[in-house]
Amino acid sequence: MPLDHAREKPVEILTAEEAADEHARLGAAVAEHDIRYYQQDAPTISDADYDALRRRLVAIEARFPDLISTASASVGAAPLAKFAKVPHAVPMLSLDNAFADEDVVDFVDRARRFLKIDGGEAIPFTAEPKIDGLSLSLRYEGGRLVTAATRGDGFEGENVTVNALTIRDVPKALPKGVPEIVEIRGECYMAHADFEALNARMAAAGGGKSFANPRNAAAGSLRQLDPKITASRPLRFFAYAWGEMSAMPAETQMGMVEAFADWGLPTNPRMTLCTTVEEALAFYHALETDRAGLGYDIDGVVYKVNSLALQNRLGFVSRSPRWAIAHKFAAEQAVTVLNGIDIQVGRTGALTPVAKLQPVTVGGVVVSNATLHNEDYIRGIGGDGLPIRDGVDIRVGDTVVVQRAGDVIPQIVSVMLDRRPADAEPYRFPTLCPVCGSHAVREEGEAVRRCTGGLICSAQAVERIRHFVSRNAFDIEGLGEKQVQAFYEWGLIKEPADIFTLEARDANQLQRLRNRDGFGETSARNLFAAINDRRSIALNRFIFALGIRHVGETNAKRLARHFGTVEAFRDTAQAARPPGPELLKGNDAWVELIDIEGIGGVVAEALVDFFDEPHNRDAFARLLEQVTPQPLEAASTDSPVAGKTVVFTGTLVRMTRDEAKAMAERLGAKVAGSVSKKTDLVVAGPGAGSKLKAAAEHNIEVIDEDGWFTLVGAD
Ligand code: IVH
Repeated sequence: MPLDHAREKPVEILTAEEAADEHARLGAAVAEHDIRYYQQDAPTISDADYDALRRRLVAIEARFPDLISTASASVGAAPLAKFAKVPHAVPMLSLDNAFADEDVVDFVDRARRFLKIDGGEAIPFTAEPKIDGLSLSLRYEGGRLVTAATRGDGFEGENVTVNALTIRDVPKALPKGVPEIVEIRGECYMAHADFEALNARMAAAGGGKSFANPRNAAAGSLRQLDPKITASRPLRFFAYAWGEMSAMPAETQMGMVEAFADWGLPTNPRMTLCTTVEEALAFYHALETDRAGLGYDIDGVVYKVNSLALQNRLGFVSRSPRWAIAHKFAAEQAVTVLNGIDIQVGRTGALTPVAKLQPVTVGGVVVSNATLHNEDYIRGIGGDGLPIRDGVDIRVGDTVVVQRAGDVIPQIVSVMLDRRPADAEPYRFPTLCPVCGSHAVREEGEAVRRCTGGLICSAQAVERIRHFVSRNAFDIEGLGEKQVQAFYEWGLIKEPADIFTLEARDANQLQRLRNRDGFGETSARNLFAAINDRRSIALNRFIFALGIRHVGETNAKRLARHFGTVEAFRDTAQAARPPGPELLKGNDAWVELIDIEGIGGVVAEALVDFFDEPHNRDAFARLLEQVTPQPLEAASTDSPVAGKTVVFTGTLVRMTRDEAKAMAERLGAKVAGSVSKKTDLVVAGPGAGSKLKAAAEHNIEVIDEDGWFTLVGAD
């Protein structure tokens, strides 16, 4: 659409019909440019022109709110591939927490000391509920909503403007006479009733999806790439703070919030002005009592010094203001019954028990799952930071006390033994992986039991294959994280050996790789070539690629150097038996393993566990039919950095520090951690500091990361 701002009729004088027409046209244009920008990375208009389109669309919606609906053109825009980032004109900070009443007394005393105001003079402050949602910043220019952004990291958030436009509580325009720039900050949240209705709707729609609590529901709904979905979610908003303001409508916190209310923004009716700590604490305890009946989740009270002049004087410590504090509520508890224990297998093979509870409301949120952490926790043995139940185990059928505290996943804090059913049996933690059936083992000193079916367990497969093809392992170009995931989902690569049979199988596939999403004739050919190129691979890389616990690059090199051939490595690891009651020192193979310089019992045990698992032995054998590991990779002697001492410093972008080190060593260089006169070359990324200075002092050549790739001919 040509952009001719001069011919545009001011939005203020558009008729409803013209507005509807233009709204549809603009919506389609914005949607089209969104696709070009986000999905195709090929914008055809400048950012300024795009912003102008968007602003006009928003302005039209502000004047004709009826045009905003699920079917509206702006929310009908194609889902975004990702959110654009928006820098916050004023950072969005967080609050310090107070837990006990005394912490609030300390907070006021601290403010008093800082301001040198003695006890005789009151420092009035506001008290208001701390809403449990996600913060949202709304920027109005000339009274029109132009940007809505999430908090992000506090300095840069995500642009959720199109989504915010669908929230009824968010005014699209402010009344005449407001300052030119107004940034309202507040909390986007979901009320209990709306949350329950949404979950019921999702359950009825099938697919097994639902939200664990209203905050997740609010965040999940606001951060939707498809605004149509946001529009269908009942989000709400409370205004309680501000960012950039071209003029201030008041001189107090209370006055500011009252101004926001006058401008049509929802503000919290419970907000109160206090003059003493006693009043503040009375507010807190009253709110705690009323909490369940508010209709939305809160997790505490926020106190803010009322005078903006004093707020300015108090300023900030790191990322939170000295003039405000969040007084959190104690964790909520409820009593329920443990119906069962599920075992989930994580990406690293860790078996995590999850309590299946009789659903119960804890602080207004329905809880039906709780974490059980690990085997010991079920047995009543607490670990780092976990509640200890003094040896009382948890059994299916038990009546338990469940606790939920803020962000923390609900946990079981105690068991009501007097209500334990007579036939309740101690829980037997599985010793086989529920996903793949491989053995699940616990290492000494570890609370976690892990599946040993690393190569074949589908719960771990994608991560394992990603590791297998990663840069320091098989380093297969064209087989990155995304591709591994896709191949796994298409059922084409389930274990490492499958990578090498891909080409042969592809010839017989109905849907050839070259016709799949993300591939074409050339990329498929290149991928097969890259795979074939790795049929011969250095033994150390081969061993590292297996992803055996505790066998990183260094240990893989030690093992490769010691055994020389893959067969010797496999046969010894497979034959090794650790010390046991009748085998005092372990068998010969075990002793051979632990005698290798740098290899101890922990690594040896991990090797034994790996090869003890028949699934792994089979997958290993299948892999060996495809690839031929070569004895330890010899360092190159004819590279431009052979024999040189290199130091890497600063942030590297194209490779990790480990990769850089491995690459340099492969090229025959020595990698040092600090710069000395023996250093030949410093490779410096952004943020390099003292090492750069040292390099200058010793007159040592410094290049950047790109320079390194050019030097070693890897570009
Ligand atoms: S004031 C500079 N007031 O709590 C401080 N925050 O821990 C600006 N929150 O990110 C925040 N209710 O998302 C403020 N009444 C309230 C709040 C509130 C909830 C959230 C907000 C913020 C977090 C800070």
